[in-house]
Amino acid sequence: MTESIYGTTEIYGLIGDPVEHSFSPPMINAAFSSEKLDARYLGFRVKVGDVSEAIAGIRALNFAGVNVTVPHKSTVIPYLDEVTPLAKKIGAVNTISNVRGHLKGTNTDFSGFIRSLKTLNFSPKNKVIAVLGAGGSARALLVGLADAGAFRVIVYNRTSERSKKLVAEFSQYFPQTKLESVSLQTIHDTPLDLLVNTTTVGMFSSEVPVDLKQCKKISLLADIIYNPIQTTLLKQAEEMGIAAVNGIGMLLYQGCEAFTFWTGKQAPEEVMRNRLLTLIE
Ligand code: ATR
Repeated sequence: MTESIYGTTEIYGLIGDPVEHSFSPPMINAAFSSEKLDARYLGFRVKVGDVSEAIAGIRALNFAGVNVTVPHKSTVIPYLDEVTPLAKKIGAVNTISNVRGHLKGTNTDFSGFIRSLKTLNFSPKNKVIAVLGAGGSARALLVGLADAGAFRVIVYNRTSERSKKLVAEFSQYFPQTKLESVSLQTIHDTPLDLLVNTTTVGMFSSEVPVDLKQCKKISLLADIIYNPIQTTLLKQAEEMGIAAVNGIGMLLYQGCEAFTFWTGKQAPEEVMRNRLLTLIE
């Protein structure tokens, strides 16, 4: 980010509702600033029902790119010129680039998550993994884990109809991964290379989505919640000596991957991480 705004300054942004509390504007602007790019990133609150006008606005005003957040990650898709194959399977786009009027959507949530595991030297390939939850985040992560070659992914959700539907949908795309919707008892009884919490349990309360003490061996625990920085589940893992990560890595790397998707440059990871931490701690 250069100090001044010029006629040439490229505009990026976040579309969603709400956007006021998003960490993306400070994180991405810190990246622009450190790379001395003539670009700015702003939040744009777009109401449900205004998505097609918002996308038309991106084209008309020649914005360079946007992130997309709740509740528009799926509804933007029909208005784009191109969507990457995995984002199409997930059914959600969180990053759009605008190259001379050609709008291309991708999903960096799942790739950001996989990259955050990589920093711990964990690869999903040939692993047995449990996913808690069957919402939008679970969809993205399931595609990421199966695409990365997981051997078996078991999904537990409070509402089992949702996890059954999810597994049935994705099994056709990833025949090499055993995807199953399971009971909580099966989560307890299965030795796991990785357990991932994608539910919102622990975000607003000190509840846990599963009692780790009732589980067989867990090698790694990932909770995609980043605020609070340490959920009760993560605390329990720490007390039991289980390696664990919170959602900051996923948040950071989805931003890094979006930065690269837009600019073709490697993202200044440490700058972005430090900016994020000043917002969360
Ligand atoms: P996101 O897009 O972030 O994944 P979501 O689609 O609203 O959010 O999904 C939230 C997930 O958290 C769901 O799996 C939800 O379970 P249900 O499908 O049964 O609603 C799960 N969840 C939320 N509150 C929960 C609770 N108190 N106990 C168990 N699961 C809960």
